[in-house]
Amino acid sequence: MKRIGILTGGGDAPGLNAVIRAAVKTAINEYQCEVLGIRNGYDGFLEEDGIIPLGRDSVRGILPRGGTILGSANRGNPYARKVIRDGKEVTIDVSDEIVKGIKKLQMDALLVLGGDGTLHIAHELYQKGVPVIGVPKTIDNDIGGTEFTFGFDTAVNIATEAIDRLHTTAESHHRAMVIELMGRDAGFIALHSGVSGGADVILIPEIPFTFDNILTKVRTRVERGLKFSILAVSEGAKPKGGGQVFSRKGDEMYVPRLGGIAQVVGEFLETHGFESRVTVLGHLQRGGTPTAFDRWLATRYGAAAVRLAAREGYDRMVALQCGEITDLPLEEAVAVPKRVDVNGDAVITARNIGISFGDE
Ligand code: F6P
Repeated sequence: MKRIGILTGGGDAPGLNAVIRAAVKTAINEYQCEVLGIRNGYDGFLEEDGIIPLGRDSVRGILPRGGTILGSANRGNPYARKVIRDGKEVTIDVSDEIVKGIKKLQMDALLVLGGDGTLHIAHELYQKGVPVIGVPKTIDNDIGGTEFTFGFDTAVNIATEAIDRLHTTAESHHRAMVIELMGRDAGFIALHSGVSGGADVILIPEIPFTFDNILTKVRTRVERGLKFSILAVSEGAKPKGGGQVFSRKGDEMYVPRLGGIAQVVGEFLETHGFESRVTVLGHLQRGGTPTAFDRWLATRYGAAAVRLAAREGYDRMVALQCGEITDLPLEEAVAVPKRVDVNGDAVITARNIGISFGDE
């Protein structure tokens, strides 16, 4: 193995730099291998200055840093790249150009750090001869075949701290505090932080709710003398028979953006006599320094991805299973997105301790 490349695609997640650092160190220390960084996801193959050498010096001090030193691109799909031609925006397939660029660089492996979209593309590029290795990244924790993606633990910790802080002010003012959390169509962040932060109601996409059930829970608490409530709401949560709430419609440039369900829930409570305040935690969940767990996981993933490359384990993704790092075919990992098991112990535990999911 003489030369490998690394790219980071999709939304960033705390721990990306820790993966890059571990991969660079492992490649140099164990395989005397050259490492190239590709800037801004797959776009880097098409950009001037899109490829940079990564040495020990480039990764010094980046372990605790959030974001990615390589930059990322949310819309960097080589199969559907938006460009302006004759003043008009058109979608073109530049995958062959990218494959040509990759092959010209004579890389023995391309480590792709990404979520489902980026990893899907990696699998497709493999069909065109690119020796890809996947590393599962996302705060949503929604990638199959792995217990945890890096970035998730940091997001849960930030969300938990936010819920703790809402608790004290909720109690002082006898209010319902509704907090909207990220996760897209998976409720892991709301579930984990809601339980860890002692929420009274947790709404997740996997368990459709009714407004009446939420009201009953808040009312029952008041009747028991508890005049405040904490509601942890996943951005993708939806009422039974209803749809998700979006803050921005999808168009040629952007996928639809989830957002606004917490406001809907807060307004509903207000119209039924419960003073409410809404917090949207947003990108605070994605920014800043990774937790120790995410640094540990990201470091293990980075080193394991390079070992996998050395074994020519292309078109596979490193993963965490039963606490150990392993790997599985990329196709398998991205086939079905991971969702909260509504009959699993996490949901049962939450119900046992009196948390309402708004479904009963
Ligand atoms: O997938 C990660 C994530 O943070 C989701 O939880 C969220 O819906 C989305 O990305 C936000 O994306 P953007 O950074 O484009 O606003």
